[in-house]
Amino acid sequence: MSDSKPLIIALDFADSRAAYQLVDQLDPGLCRIKIGKEMFTRYGPELVKRITASGFDIFLDLKFHDIPNTVAGAVSAAADLGVWMVNVHAGGGRAMMEAARKSLGDKPATRLIAVTVLTSLSSQDLHEVGVSGSAEEQVARLARLTAESGLDGVVCSAREIALLRQNLKPDFLLVTPGIRPAGDDAGDQKRTETPATALARGSNYLVIGRPVTQAADPLLKLRQIMQEIHSKI
Ligand code: C5P
Repeated sequence: MSDSKPLIIALDFADSRAAYQLVDQLDPGLCRIKIGKEMFTRYGPELVKRITASGFDIFLDLKFHDIPNTVAGAVSAAADLGVWMVNVHAGGGRAMMEAARKSLGDKPATRLIAVTVLTSLSSQDLHEVGVSGSAEEQVARLARLTAESGLDGVVCSAREIALLRQNLKPDFLLVTPGIRPAGDDAGDQKRTETPATALARGSNYLVIGRPVTQAADPLLKLRQIMQEIHSKI
C-alpha cells in the first residue's frame, strides 16, 4: 500500500446538510472526500472550502473535457481552491491533458488524473461512438496516453488494475471505485471488489460511497474497513 490513507469517501448527497452531517462524523486522519458533479453544481466552491477547512483532502471529481485552454483554466481553478486531486477525461486528448498538467506547474500539491472509459459504456456503446476495439484495449490506450501526457494516474475499475499495473510505471496512481467491503450489498454496482483485494492488486486509492455514507455508524464502518485492509495486507 503506497499511501497509509487509501480511502476516498464519495459524498453523493442531494442535500448539503446531510453531507455536512456525514463529514462531521468522519475522521480526516482516516479518509479523504470525493465531491462530484451533483454536489458541486448545487453547492459550489463553498462546499469544497468548508470541507477542506474541516481538515479533509478533497478529490474534485468533475471529469473536465473541453478544449485545452478551457480545461487548463478549470484545473487551475480547482488547484486554487486547494483540492488534493482533480480529474479530466483522457478522451479529450494529449494536448488537453498536457495543457491541464502545465496549468498546475506551480501547484504540484494537486494531483491530476484522468478517466479512461466510463464503466457505464458497453462495447456496443463504444462502437456507436466510433471505438472499434474492445473496451479493455481502449482503457489501456487511454491510460498510456494519460501517462505520456504527464498526468499522475487514472480512475480504473478493479478489473482493470492488473492490466494497467503491468503496463505502467509503479508510481502511476490507480484510483478504483466499485469497492465493497466483504459481505456488503453491491447495490447497483455490477462488478465489485473488496478493499483488501483491490489494494493487493495494485490500486492506490479506493473510492467508497454508500457502504460508508449509508452506514448506521460511518466512522465505525471506516475503522472496520481499515482493519479489514490491515488484516489482509
Ligand atoms: O456508493 P458507491 O460506493 O457505489 O459509490 C461509488 C462512487 O464512485 C460514486 O460517486 C460513483 O459515481 C463513482 N464511480 C463509480 N464507477 C466509476 C466511476 C466513478 O462508481 N466507474
